[in-house]
Amino acid sequence: MINHFSQIDVRASGSRRGFLFLMEQAHSVRADTRCVTQQACRKGWKVDVKATDKRIGVVVGGGNGIGAACCRLMAERGWKVVVADLDEGSAKAVSEEIGAHACAVDIRDHDAVERLAADIESDVGPVHALVVAAAAFQDRCTAFEATTDQFRNVFAVNSEAVFALDRAFGKAMVRRRSGSIVNMASAVVYGSSPVHAYGASKAAVVSLTRTLAVEWGRAGVRVNSVSPGSTLVERQLTRKSDPRFTTDPIGTSALGRKVLPREVAEGVEFLASDRASAITGIDLLIDGGFVPASMWGFYGGVPAAEDP
Ligand SMILES: NC(=O)c1ccc[n+]([C@@H]2O[C@H](COP(=O)([O-])OP(=O)(O)OC[C@H]3O[C@@H](n4cnc5c(N)ncnc54)[C@H](O)[C@@H]3O)[C@@H](O)[C@H]2O)c1
Repeated sequence: MINHFSQIDVRASGSRRGFLFLMEQAHSVRADTRCVTQQACRKGWKVDVKATDKRIGVVVGGGNGIGAACCRLMAERGWKVVVADLDEGSAKAVSEEIGAHACAVDIRDHDAVERLAADIESDVGPVHALVVAAAAFQDRCTAFEATTDQFRNVFAVNSEAVFALDRAFGKAMVRRRSGSIVNMASAVVYGSSPVHAYGASKAAVVSLTRTLAVEWGRAGVRVNSVSPGSTLVERQLTRKSDPRFTTDPIGTSALGRKVLPREVAEGVEFLASDRASAITGIDLLIDGGFVPASMWGFYGGVPAAEDP
Protein backbone atom coordinates (compact mmCIF):
# COMPACT_ATOMS: atom_id res chain seq x y z
CA MET A 1 0.00 0.00 0.00
CA ILE A 2 1.34 3.39 -0.96
CA ASN A 3 0.90 6.26 1.44
CA HIS A 4 0.17 8.99 -1.09
CA PHE A 5 -0.22 11.63 1.60
CA SER A 6 3.45 12.38 1.50
CA GLN A 7 2.92 13.88 -1.96
CA ILE A 8 0.10 16.16 -0.91
CA ASP A 9 -0.19 18.66 1.84
CA VAL A 10 -3.21 17.74 3.92
CA ARG A 11 -4.46 19.97 6.66
CA ALA A 12 -7.68 18.98 8.36
CA SER A 13 -8.80 21.90 10.42
CA GLY A 14 -11.08 21.48 13.40
CA SER A 15 -9.77 18.44 15.18
CA ARG A 16 -6.91 16.03 15.52
CA ARG A 17 -9.50 13.30 14.87
CA GLY A 18 -9.98 14.75 11.41
CA PHE A 19 -6.30 14.45 10.61
CA LEU A 20 -6.10 10.92 12.01
CA PHE A 21 -9.13 9.94 9.93
CA LEU A 22 -7.38 11.09 6.77
CA MET A 23 -4.16 9.26 7.59
CA GLU A 24 -6.12 6.11 8.38
CA GLN A 25 -7.88 6.33 5.03
CA ALA A 26 -4.57 6.74 3.28
CA HIS A 27 -3.20 3.59 4.90
CA SER A 28 -6.24 1.36 4.90
CA VAL A 29 -7.99 1.87 1.58
CA ARG A 30 -6.88 2.25 -2.00
CA ALA A 31 -8.76 5.51 -2.17
CA ASP A 32 -7.38 8.24 -4.34
CA THR A 33 -6.74 11.71 -3.02
CA ARG A 34 -10.03 13.11 -4.32
CA CYS A 35 -12.06 10.34 -2.67
CA VAL A 36 -10.45 10.87 0.75
CA THR A 37 -10.84 14.63 0.40
CA GLN A 38 -14.54 14.26 -0.43
CA GLN A 39 -15.11 12.05 2.62
CA ALA A 40 -13.41 14.61 4.86
CA CYS A 41 -15.48 17.46 3.40
CA ARG A 42 -18.69 15.53 4.03
CA LYS A 43 -17.65 15.38 7.70
CA GLY A 44 -17.21 19.14 7.73
CA TRP A 45 -13.42 19.22 7.82
CA LYS A 46 -11.45 21.62 5.69
CA VAL A 47 -8.76 19.92 3.65
CA ASP A 48 -6.05 21.65 1.62
CA VAL A 49 -4.53 19.53 -1.07
CA LYS A 50 -1.41 20.84 -2.78
CA ALA A 51 0.16 18.73 -5.46
CA THR A 52 3.88 18.18 -5.13
CA ASP A 53 6.19 19.78 -7.67
CA LYS A 54 8.71 16.97 -7.23
CA ARG A 55 9.20 14.64 -10.15
CA ILE A 56 8.37 11.01 -9.51
CA GLY A 57 11.00 8.39 -10.27
CA VAL A 58 10.34 4.66 -9.92
CA VAL A 59 13.38 2.43 -9.39
CA VAL A 60 12.65 -1.27 -9.94
CA GLY A 61 15.29 -3.36 -8.20
CA GLY A 62 15.87 -0.37 -5.92
CA GLY A 63 16.28 -2.44 -2.77
CA ASN A 64 19.94 -3.33 -3.28
CA GLY A 65 23.15 -2.55 -5.14
CA ILE A 66 23.08 -0.13 -8.05
CA GLY A 67 19.30 0.31 -7.83
CA ALA A 68 19.57 1.39 -4.17
CA ALA A 69 22.34 3.84 -5.12
CA CYS A 70 20.02 5.26 -7.81
CA CYS A 71 17.25 5.71 -5.20
CA ARG A 72 19.60 7.54 -2.81
CA LEU A 73 21.04 9.82 -5.48
CA MET A 74 17.64 10.60 -7.03
CA ALA A 75 16.23 11.47 -3.59
CA GLU A 76 19.23 13.74 -2.97
CA ARG A 77 18.59 15.49 -6.30
CA GLY A 78 14.97 16.22 -5.38
CA TRP A 79 13.10 13.30 -6.97
CA LYS A 80 10.16 11.72 -5.21
CA VAL A 81 11.28 8.11 -5.34
CA VAL A 82 9.33 4.85 -5.39
CA VAL A 83 11.46 1.82 -4.50
CA ALA A 84 10.09 -1.40 -6.02
CA ASP A 85 11.73 -4.76 -5.42
CA LEU A 86 11.12 -8.47 -4.98
CA ASP A 87 13.00 -8.11 -1.70
CA GLU A 88 10.37 -6.22 0.30
CA GLY A 89 12.58 -5.84 3.39
CA SER A 90 15.35 -4.11 1.43
CA ALA A 91 12.87 -1.92 -0.45
CA LYS A 92 11.41 -0.77 2.86
CA ALA A 93 14.84 -0.18 4.42
CA VAL A 94 15.94 2.01 1.49
CA SER A 95 12.63 3.87 1.36
CA GLU A 96 12.73 4.57 5.11
CA GLU A 97 16.29 5.86 4.81
CA ILE A 98 15.45 8.36 2.05
CA GLY A 99 11.78 9.08 2.78
CA ALA A 100 10.44 7.25 -0.28
CA HIS A 101 7.56 4.88 -1.05
CA ALA A 102 8.18 1.12 -1.09
CA CYS A 103 6.44 -1.55 -3.19
CA ALA A 104 6.96 -5.30 -3.32
CA VAL A 105 6.77 -6.77 -6.81
CA ASP A 106 7.96 -9.81 -8.72
CA ILE A 107 8.50 -8.44 -12.21
CA ARG A 108 8.24 -11.90 -13.74
CA ASP A 109 4.50 -11.58 -13.10
CA HIS A 110 3.35 -9.27 -15.92
CA ASP A 111 -0.10 -8.70 -14.37
CA ALA A 112 1.66 -7.53 -11.20
CA VAL A 113 3.79 -5.19 -13.33
CA GLU A 114 0.65 -3.66 -14.87
CA ARG A 115 -0.88 -3.26 -11.39
CA LEU A 116 2.32 -1.68 -10.07
CA ALA A 117 2.28 0.97 -12.82
CA ALA A 118 -1.44 1.68 -12.38
CA ASP A 119 -1.19 1.86 -8.56
CA ILE A 120 1.78 4.22 -8.59
CA GLU A 121 0.16 6.47 -11.20
CA SER A 122 -3.06 6.69 -9.18
CA ASP A 123 -1.68 6.68 -5.62
CA VAL A 124 1.61 8.56 -5.95
CA GLY A 125 1.20 10.54 -9.15
CA PRO A 126 2.44 10.77 -12.74
CA VAL A 127 5.72 8.94 -13.18
CA HIS A 128 8.35 11.02 -14.94
CA ALA A 129 11.14 8.42 -14.87
CA LEU A 130 11.37 4.65 -14.72
CA VAL A 131 14.68 2.98 -13.87
CA VAL A 132 14.87 -0.80 -14.30
CA ALA A 133 17.81 -2.12 -12.27
CA ALA A 134 16.48 -5.56 -11.27
CA ALA A 135 18.28 -8.54 -12.71
CA ALA A 136 18.78 -12.29 -12.56
CA PHE A 137 22.37 -13.49 -12.56
CA GLN A 138 23.96 -16.84 -13.37
CA ASP A 139 27.16 -18.69 -12.62
CA ARG A 140 29.68 -19.12 -15.39
CA CYS A 141 29.35 -22.30 -17.43
CA THR A 142 30.19 -23.81 -20.79
CA ALA A 143 27.76 -23.86 -23.70
CA PHE A 144 27.22 -27.57 -23.06
CA GLU A 145 26.45 -27.04 -19.37
CA ALA A 146 23.96 -24.20 -20.00
CA THR A 147 20.35 -25.34 -19.70
CA THR A 148 17.11 -24.19 -21.27
CA ASP A 149 15.71 -23.50 -17.78
CA GLN A 150 18.64 -21.24 -17.01
CA PHE A 151 17.97 -19.25 -20.20
CA ARG A 152 14.27 -19.01 -19.41
CA ASN A 153 14.85 -17.84 -15.82
CA VAL A 154 17.43 -15.23 -16.78
CA PHE A 155 15.46 -13.94 -19.79
CA ALA A 156 12.24 -13.80 -17.73
CA VAL A 157 13.77 -11.11 -15.48
CA ASN A 158 16.38 -9.41 -17.66
CA SER A 159 14.51 -9.13 -20.98
CA GLU A 160 10.80 -10.05 -20.79
CA ALA A 161 10.19 -8.19 -17.52
CA VAL A 162 12.10 -5.15 -18.78
CA PHE A 163 9.80 -5.07 -21.82
CA ALA A 164 6.73 -5.53 -19.59
CA LEU A 165 7.85 -2.68 -17.28
CA ASP A 166 8.74 -0.31 -20.12
CA ARG A 167 5.33 -0.92 -21.73
CA ALA A 168 3.35 -0.67 -18.49
CA PHE A 169 4.94 2.65 -17.44
CA GLY A 170 5.50 3.86 -21.02
CA LYS A 171 1.76 3.79 -21.75
CA ALA A 172 0.99 6.70 -19.39
CA MET A 173 4.17 8.54 -20.43
CA VAL A 174 3.21 8.34 -24.11
CA ARG A 175 -0.30 9.60 -23.26
CA ARG A 176 1.21 12.53 -21.32
CA ARG A 177 3.79 13.12 -24.09
CA SER A 178 6.60 13.13 -21.52
CA GLY A 179 8.81 10.69 -19.66
CA SER A 180 12.17 9.00 -19.46
CA ILE A 181 13.10 5.33 -19.10
CA VAL A 182 16.53 3.98 -18.15
CA ASN A 183 17.09 0.25 -18.53
CA MET A 184 20.14 -1.54 -17.16
CA ALA A 185 22.30 -3.52 -19.58
CA SER A 186 25.93 -4.54 -18.91
CA ALA A 187 29.46 -4.11 -20.20
CA VAL A 188 29.35 -7.81 -21.16
CA VAL A 189 27.37 -6.67 -24.21
CA TYR A 190 30.57 -5.10 -25.60
CA GLY A 191 32.62 -8.26 -25.38
CA SER A 192 31.95 -11.85 -24.49
CA SER A 193 31.72 -13.78 -21.26
CA PRO A 194 31.03 -17.35 -20.08
CA VAL A 195 27.51 -16.36 -18.98
CA HIS A 196 25.57 -17.12 -22.15
CA ALA A 197 22.04 -16.39 -20.95
CA TYR A 198 22.98 -13.27 -18.94
CA GLY A 199 25.03 -11.75 -21.79
CA ALA A 200 22.36 -12.43 -24.42
CA SER A 201 19.59 -11.10 -22.15
CA LYS A 202 21.51 -7.82 -21.70
CA ALA A 203 22.12 -7.52 -25.47
CA ALA A 204 18.33 -7.82 -25.81
CA VAL A 205 17.94 -4.87 -23.40
CA VAL A 206 20.14 -2.63 -25.59
CA SER A 207 18.18 -3.59 -28.71
CA LEU A 208 14.80 -3.15 -27.01
CA THR A 209 15.89 0.24 -25.69
CA ARG A 210 16.75 1.49 -29.18
CA THR A 211 13.47 0.24 -30.62
CA LEU A 212 11.30 1.89 -27.95
CA ALA A 213 13.34 5.11 -28.18
CA VAL A 214 12.37 5.43 -31.84
CA GLU A 215 8.79 4.19 -31.40
CA TRP A 216 8.04 6.66 -28.57
CA GLY A 217 10.42 9.51 -29.49
CA ARG A 218 7.79 11.67 -31.22
CA ALA A 219 5.63 11.26 -28.13
CA GLY A 220 8.33 12.96 -26.04
CA VAL A 221 9.38 9.79 -24.24
CA ARG A 222 13.11 9.04 -24.09
CA VAL A 223 14.45 5.51 -23.60
CA ASN A 224 18.12 4.82 -22.83
CA SER A 225 20.19 2.14 -21.17
CA VAL A 226 23.25 2.12 -18.94
CA SER A 227 25.91 -0.59 -19.07
CA PRO A 228 27.91 -0.85 -15.86
CA GLY A 229 31.27 -2.57 -15.75
CA SER A 230 32.29 -4.57 -12.69
CA THR A 231 30.67 -2.60 -9.85
CA LEU A 232 31.37 -2.99 -6.15
CA VAL A 233 27.89 -3.89 -4.91
CA GLU A 234 27.15 -5.86 -1.75
CA ARG A 235 26.38 -8.98 -3.80
CA GLN A 236 29.95 -8.95 -5.14
CA LEU A 237 31.61 -8.05 -1.85
CA THR A 238 30.01 -11.05 -0.13
CA ARG A 239 31.40 -13.44 -2.75
CA LYS A 240 35.05 -13.00 -1.90
CA SER A 241 35.76 -16.70 -2.39
CA ASP A 242 35.10 -16.23 -6.09
CA PRO A 243 38.34 -15.04 -7.74
CA ARG A 244 36.40 -12.82 -10.14
CA PHE A 245 35.53 -10.55 -7.23
CA THR A 246 38.94 -10.47 -5.59
CA THR A 247 41.10 -10.02 -8.68
CA ASP A 248 41.72 -6.32 -9.17
CA PRO A 249 41.20 -5.48 -12.84
CA ILE A 250 43.99 -2.90 -12.59
CA GLY A 251 45.78 -4.36 -15.57
CA THR A 252 42.64 -4.47 -17.66
CA SER A 253 40.83 -1.17 -17.17
CA ALA A 254 41.87 2.38 -17.99
CA LEU A 255 41.19 3.76 -14.49
CA GLY A 256 42.58 0.63 -12.81
CA ARG A 257 39.74 0.14 -10.40
CA LYS A 258 36.21 -1.15 -10.13
CA VAL A 259 33.19 1.13 -10.37
CA LEU A 260 31.17 2.33 -7.37
CA PRO A 261 27.36 1.96 -7.38
CA ARG A 262 27.01 5.73 -6.98
CA GLU A 263 29.08 6.32 -10.09
CA VAL A 264 26.61 4.25 -12.10
CA ALA A 265 23.73 6.08 -10.42
CA GLU A 266 25.17 9.40 -11.63
CA GLY A 267 24.73 8.27 -15.25
CA VAL A 268 21.27 6.87 -14.56
CA GLU A 269 20.02 10.04 -12.86
CA PHE A 270 21.44 12.18 -15.67
CA LEU A 271 19.64 10.18 -18.35
CA ALA A 272 16.42 10.17 -16.31
CA SER A 273 16.50 13.94 -15.92
CA ASP A 274 15.74 16.73 -18.38
CA ARG A 275 19.47 17.50 -18.49
CA ALA A 276 19.57 14.67 -21.02
CA SER A 277 16.60 16.08 -22.98
CA ALA A 278 18.18 15.43 -26.41
CA ILE A 279 19.53 11.97 -25.59
CA THR A 280 17.56 8.89 -26.51
CA GLY A 281 18.31 5.39 -27.78
CA ILE A 282 21.85 5.27 -26.40
CA ASP A 283 23.64 2.83 -24.16
CA LEU A 284 25.91 4.64 -21.69
CA LEU A 285 28.92 2.54 -20.74
CA ILE A 286 30.11 3.23 -17.16
CA ASP A 287 32.98 0.82 -16.68
CA GLY A 288 36.07 2.77 -15.62
CA GLY A 289 37.47 2.21 -19.11
CA PHE A 290 37.34 -1.59 -19.00
CA VAL A 291 35.97 -2.05 -22.53
CA PRO A 292 38.21 0.62 -24.13
CA ALA A 293 41.25 -1.11 -22.59
CA SER A 294 40.35 -4.56 -23.89
CA MET A 295 42.99 -4.60 -26.66
CA TRP A 296 45.80 -3.45 -24.36
CA GLY A 297 46.41 -6.96 -23.10
CA PHE A 298 48.02 -7.57 -26.50
CA TYR A 299 50.52 -4.80 -25.68
CA GLY A 300 51.32 -6.01 -22.18
CA GLY A 301 48.40 -4.43 -20.32
CA VAL A 302 47.45 -0.90 -19.31
CA PRO A 303 50.60 1.04 -18.35
CA ALA A 304 51.03 2.89 -15.08
CA ALA A 305 50.58 6.64 -15.52
CA GLU A 306 53.98 8.27 -15.93
CA ASP A 307 54.85 11.90 -15.59
CA PRO A 308 55.25 13.45 -19.07
N1 LIG B 1 27.12 -5.11 -10.14
C1 LIG B 1 27.73 -5.23 -11.29
O1 LIG B 1 28.95 -5.43 -11.35
C2 LIG B 1 26.94 -5.09 -12.58
C3 LIG B 1 27.65 -5.09 -13.79
C4 LIG B 1 26.96 -4.96 -14.98
C5 LIG B 1 25.58 -4.81 -14.98
N2 LIG B 1 24.91 -4.81 -13.79
C6 LIG B 1 23.45 -4.64 -13.84
O2 LIG B 1 23.07 -3.60 -12.95
C7 LIG B 1 21.79 -3.91 -12.39
C8 LIG B 1 21.88 -3.91 -10.87
O3 LIG B 1 22.79 -4.94 -10.48
P1 LIG B 1 23.30 -5.09 -8.98
O4 LIG B 1 24.65 -5.63 -9.04
O5 LIG B 1 23.04 -3.83 -8.25
O6 LIG B 1 22.33 -6.25 -8.47
P2 LIG B 1 21.74 -6.57 -6.99
O7 LIG B 1 21.58 -8.05 -6.93
O8 LIG B 1 22.55 -5.90 -5.95
O9 LIG B 1 20.30 -5.89 -7.06
C9 LIG B 1 19.32 -6.37 -7.95
C10 LIG B 1 17.96 -6.16 -7.32
O10 LIG B 1 16.97 -6.71 -8.20
C11 LIG B 1 15.97 -7.34 -7.43
N3 LIG B 1 15.27 -8.36 -8.20
C12 LIG B 1 15.78 -9.51 -8.69
N4 LIG B 1 14.80 -10.23 -9.29
C13 LIG B 1 13.66 -9.50 -9.18
C14 LIG B 1 12.32 -9.72 -9.59
N5 LIG B 1 11.94 -10.86 -10.20
N6 LIG B 1 11.39 -8.78 -9.33
C15 LIG B 1 11.75 -7.63 -8.67
N7 LIG B 1 13.01 -7.36 -8.27
C16 LIG B 1 13.96 -8.30 -8.50
C17 LIG B 1 16.75 -7.98 -6.26
O11 LIG B 1 15.90 -8.26 -5.17
C18 LIG B 1 17.79 -6.89 -5.97
O12 LIG B 1 17.33 -5.99 -4.99
C19 LIG B 1 21.39 -5.26 -12.97
O13 LIG B 1 20.57 -5.04 -14.10
C20 LIG B 1 22.71 -5.88 -13.39
O14 LIG B 1 22.55 -6.80 -14.43
C21 LIG B 1 25.55 -4.95 -12.58
